[in-house]
Parts: sequence; structure tokens; C-alpha cells
Amino acid sequence: MENTFQFPDTFLWGCATAAYQIEGSPLAQGAGRSFWHRFSHTPGMTRNGDTGDIACDHYRRMEQDVALMADLGLNAYRFSISWARVLPGGEGGVNQLGLDFYDRLVDALLKRSITPMVTLYHWDLPEALDNRGGWLNPRVADWFAEYSRVCFRRLDDRVGLWVTLNEPWVVTDGGYLHGTLAPGHRNLFETPVASHNLLRSHSRAVQVYREVGRHRIGIVVNIEPKHPATDSAEDLAATERADGYMNRQYLEPVIHGRYPKALQEVFGEAWPEWPQKDLEEIRRPIDFIGLNYYTREVVRHDPARYPVKASAVRQPNATYTETGWEVYPPALTDSLAWLKENYGNLPIYITENGAAFYDPPTVEGERLEDPLRQSYLKKHIKAAHDALDAGVDLRGYFVWSLLDNLEWSQGYSKRFGLIHVDFSTQKRTRKGSADLYQQIIASNGRVLERV
Ligand code: BGC
Repeated sequence: MENTFQFPDTFLWGCATAAYQIEGSPLAQGAGRSFWHRFSHTPGMTRNGDTGDIACDHYRRMEQDVALMADLGLNAYRFSISWARVLPGGEGGVNQLGLDFYDRLVDALLKRSITPMVTLYHWDLPEALDNRGGWLNPRVADWFAEYSRVCFRRLDDRVGLWVTLNEPWVVTDGGYLHGTLAPGHRNLFETPVASHNLLRSHSRAVQVYREVGRHRIGIVVNIEPKHPATDSAEDLAATERADGYMNRQYLEPVIHGRYPKALQEVFGEAWPEWPQKDLEEIRRPIDFIGLNYYTREVVRHDPARYPVKASAVRQPNATYTETGWEVYPPALTDSLAWLKENYGNLPIYITENGAAFYDPPTVEGERLEDPLRQSYLKKHIKAAHDALDAGVDLRGYFVWSLLDNLEWSQGYSKRFGLIHVDFSTQKRTRKGSADLYQQIIASNGRVLERV
């Protein structure tokens, strides 16, 4: 019988991480402080006061962690560079020791035939720049362009896949609107300004890349399909707003040079009139889209819910993860098809997909069974394959995450790793999902017919 889950030979099978979530040693070897360092050290901002001071101690255990990746059989790895390690003041003098770390990481990966995908910004703005307004200062686009140029110059000879920004929606919704992430602001008026400057910065980095880079560059967005709870006019309108706000706010300008209309409704008087010139600049060809997919949302009209006036309806028969997200694999297939239809049929990578389920803090023995995570991964990788069948140009899949790590303001309470980390000893233990993923990679998907 013909195989139903055969992925292309060139398919990338990876894991993803982010600097502040795994590295630890945030101030080592001349690094500057990021605004996440400040935020996590501010009492009350993270669960249990957890910080990234140690995290997975990856900064000091990098070689061992790359060996774990090789054991898994990964042929790709997505990580982010800490801007403040490279440019401690955000701009100006380069800290060679910080840059050397990423240089060694790239070499260690290549030595094991693991393709690096590098994210320039995964949420850790240098504090020195935040002190000057950060994402609210229009000059941030120059700062980001300069930082990007330094990274491209040093690594593009060996790095073929670059990501400008990770999930700009989360940066602004958590960081500037609700205050749950760094820098912890709560300001409706600031939110669209931060978004706009993120987009301008993205575009400037792509522009610099076309000058000095030789490979491919894209952006990573989080997409969460919005399904109306009922077909009442109110719920449909709420769904439209939620979709414009979360799913189309960034791609629409990057690919089509315009903002979705829904944003005007969402932000009301806080929505500025943007210069047409900016939108023309923001629209600049990219080489791929990175999709982070975790869940969908069933939406109902809810006037009390600021500012989108929409809230999520819990599904009584569904499975939910530890982060409260419904397990709903078909929306991954739909998101991929939707990207193909609406955003230029570009190559797509699933740059994050995974689940937090409860695992104990300490593990006895060699393995930890995690059946819920295994089931999540199986279903979602099958759903990814369905999109290939439907003609989506899907090039790779990255599990979030390689290791249990700092789940931002949730601290170490949410475990997403294929590999368990005991945060009191730094002992790494493979979970059952690591074994499963290894088999999926080794068979290029075919094992999914049997598991
Ligand atoms: C982010 C990660 C985060 C993960 C799970 C994504 O929003 O890129 O940094 O840990 O999802 O919440």
C-alpha cells in the first residue's frame, strides 16, 4: 500500500528555542541587559519570580545540547540571537565574545549536519534601547538594521535561513497592551505604534539582507484561526475583529502593503493615520513565512473584553493543554492553506508547534513518558502532511521546544520540551515524545501510519 505520510526528501525536521528562554548567563562576557532581564527581576512580573538567569544553562552547555539534537536526528534547529549579547548598548560597539557564542553554535550544528535557522528578535530588546523608547521610538528601525547587519556579516556565510521577528503580535499585545510581557506597558495608544515600528524594522532588516546576505529571509507570525461561536451577526463581527487583530495585522502590511480594516475598529481613536510611504516600505518581498501554530479560538462577541470585544468560548469536549489552549489539529492544515491562498503562495516553515502538559520537576530513570504530548505531536504532524497533500509549499517543521524552558511570565511552570530539564540540577532526560520524534524523522513521516 502506498505511504500516506511521506514527507519530501528535503524536508527540515527541527526543534525551536529562544535565547532568553534557554541560555542563562544573561550578563556573561560583556553582554548588556535586555528588557526581559529587567522585567523578570521586577517583583510580581513572573510566576514565582522566575528569571532567565540560569534557565537551561545552555550558554555553558551548548556543545552537549547540540549533541542531544544530533541524537534526536534533527536536521534543523531554530534559535534566536540575543541582541544585547552582540550589541550591549543596543547600537554602537560590538561585543565579539557574545557574537562568538553564536558563531560556535552555528559551527557545532553544521558539524552535525543540522541546518541553522536564526531568529534576530525573539522578544529580548536591549534595555539601553528601551530606555530610549524601544519599539516606540521610530529610530528603532535604524538600530535593528544595524544589529541585523552585524549578524548577517558574521554568520550568513554559514546560515541559510534568517527570521527577522518572532511573533510581533505577542510583542505588542503582551508587552504594550496588557503588560504581561516586557516591557510591561498597558497603553492602547502605544500598541499600534510599537507594531508599526516592528514592521518598519522588519523591512529594514530585509533591505539590509538584500545588500549583504546571500540566502533566504522571512518573518515568523503566530496564527490562531478564529471560529465564530454562533452565526449571529455579532459573533461574526467579533470573529472578524479577532482575526484582523491577531492573524492579519502583520502579514497584510508585509505582503500587501496595507493594514486590515478591522484594526481601526479595534483601536478606535488610538489608531493613527499611517504615512503611505511607510506602508510601501514595509511591503518588501520576503522568501518564506514562518508559522507558529498552537491552537484555534472559538470566538463570541464580548463588549467587556478590551479592546477587541471578543472572548474565547471553551469547548466542553476538547482536550486543553497546560497553557489553556485547545488541542485542535485541523486548524493547522487550515492555517497553512490560508497562508497559501492569501499571502502569495510562499514557501512556509512551521517554525513552532508543540504543547505544555504536566511533567514532574524531577525524573527518576532514563525516560519520562508523556503520552499527551506524543498524541499532540502525532496529530499535528499528520495535519501538516494534509497541507502538503493540498499543495502547500511546506518546507519544514520545528517542535517547540527542544528543552523545557522559561515560559516567559509563566516562569518554569509550563513544560514544552521533548527533553525534560530538572531545573535544580540541569539534568536532561528524554521524554517519550523525543523517541517518537526521532522515529518520525528517521522514517521521514512514514512511521505515522503505525503510531
Ligand atoms: C513563542 C515562544 C513560547 C511559545 C509557547 C510562542 O509564542 O514564540 O517563545 O514559549 O510560543 O508559549
